[in-house]
Amino acid sequence: MIKYFLGTKKEENENKPQEESTGKPVEQHPVIALRNAWKTYRTGAVELTALRRISIHIFAGEFTAIMGSSGSGKSTLMNILGCLDQMDSGSYLLNGTDISSLNQEDLAFIRNQEIGFVFQSFNLLNKLTLQENVELPMIYGAVNRGERTRRALEALDAVWLASWARHRPNEVSGGQIQRAAIARAIVMRPALLMADEPTGNLDSRTSRDIMELFIQLNRSGSTIVLITHEKEISAYANRIIRVEDGEIVLDSFGRDAPKPERDN
Ligand SMILES: Nc1ncnc2c1ncn2[C@@H]1O[C@H](COP(=O)(O)OP(=O)(O)O)[C@@H](O)[C@H]1O
Ligand SMILES: [Mg+2]
Repeated sequence: MIKYFLGTKKEENENKPQEESTGKPVEQHPVIALRNAWKTYRTGAVELTALRRISIHIFAGEFTAIMGSSGSGKSTLMNILGCLDQMDSGSYLLNGTDISSLNQEDLAFIRNQEIGFVFQSFNLLNKLTLQENVELPMIYGAVNRGERTRRALEALDAVWLASWARHRPNEVSGGQIQRAAIARAIVMRPALLMADEPTGNLDSRTSRDIMELFIQLNRSGSTIVLITHEKEISAYANRIIRVEDGEIVLDSFGRDAPKPERDN
C-alpha cells in the first residue's frame, strides 16, 4: 500500500489554516512559481535559446506532464525546476523559497530536502543493494542510521519491493530498478517529485505499472511533474503543459484536475 509520502514532512501543516468545509489545509503558496524564465546555451560561437518566457505555477497535489518533442527544452526546464541548473533571467520560488538567493551548498540542501528525482536511466549504484541506494539521500540528509533503515524499508514497501531490499540492481528487472529509483526519490518526503522520461527504457506493460505507481503517489498527496514525449504517458496526468521550441504553447487541465486560483 502506498503511504502518504509527500507533504507529510511539513508538520506545520497541522497549524495551517483549515478550510471549513473540507478540513484540508489551505495551501499558502504554489510548490512551483516560475516566472518569465529564459535560458540560452552558448557553445563556442553558437547560441541556442532553449527556454523563452516560461511561466509556470504548480500547486500541491497537481500531477503535471510536460510534453514536447526531442530538443524542445523539456530537460532544460526540468533542470531549472529541479535546481540543477540556473536560468539566465526570470524568477523561481520553490515551495516559497527564492532560488536565486541561494549558493551551491544551499541549493544542494534544497534539492535533498524538497525534490525527489527519477531519471530515465535509473542512476542507481550497482555496488549497493536497493536498500542502500534508497538510504543514500538520507545519508546526505543526515538522517540517523536506525531511522534510515526504517524509512528505506517503508519506501521500498510502498513500491512493492520490500522483499528485494538486499538485492543489487543487476539482480532485478528494469521495472524493479525503476521502482527502487522512485523509492529513493520519495524517501526524503520531498514537496515535489520530478521524473524525466521515467518510462523511456521500459516495455509498455512495465511502463503502465510505473505510471500506476505515480497515480497512487499523486492520490496520496504527492505533487508530480513528469516529463515525457509520449502521449500515452501524458494521459496519466491531470494537467498537460506542452513545450515547443522552448516556449509553452499549451497549458491544459484534464477533467478531474483541481483548478486552483492562480495569479498568472
Ligand atoms: N548543455 C547544453 N549545451 C548546449 N546546448 C544544449 C545543452 N543542453 C541542451 N541543449 C540544446 O537545447 C535544446 C533543448 O534541449 P533539451 O532541454 O535537452 O530538450 P529535450 O529534453 O526536450 O529533448 C536542444 O536544442 C539541445 O540541443
Ligand atoms: Mg530530455
